[in-house]
Amino acid sequence: MRRIDHFNGLAVDIKANREFFENYLGFMLTEQIVLDDGSEAGMWMTATNKSYDFAYTRDHTATPGRLHHVTFALDSREDVLRAADIFLENGVFIETGPHKHAIQQTFFLYVYEPGGNRVEVACAGARLVLAPDWKPIRWTEAERKKGQAWGLQTIKSFHTHGTPPVPGVADS
Ligand SMILES: [Fe+2]
Repeated sequence: MRRIDHFNGLAVDIKANREFFENYLGFMLTEQIVLDDGSEAGMWMTATNKSYDFAYTRDHTATPGRLHHVTFALDSREDVLRAADIFLENGVFIETGPHKHAIQQTFFLYVYEPGGNRVEVACAGARLVLAPDWKPIRWTEAERKKGQAWGLQTIKSFHTHGTPPVPGVADS
């Protein structure tokens, strides 16, 4: 591990969360998901030139206040592949990846730690937002249905598994 890269929270009302971080804490939106009905399903925000410090995605169980994952940065994609082998050899549950995210282009791998939280190891590269007139990238519902960058479909548990778990919801 090199450093903590970002965290990803779950929220029921993404728009309200985005406005909170924009208006009261001064974060800038760099990418978002907006569904066909106009509702927001995901947001990626930064306080610096790093393309994102944290994200929130919509909790499909409609439960407030849960964690989706925390992410640690590795130096290279090769390190992510090595981490996958280390996890595999030691019986750590791999949820999805290694693959490349469409949003923010991160090379990712997701596992569950023994406490039940989702942990991502990723190579974020050096994506910096330097343009002062940067306009947020808006991902549509159709674009998101294509899955991740090279076509891997977004795994179902990605929308439901969070911590703390929701009683009675599979993969919650
Ligand atoms: Fe992430």
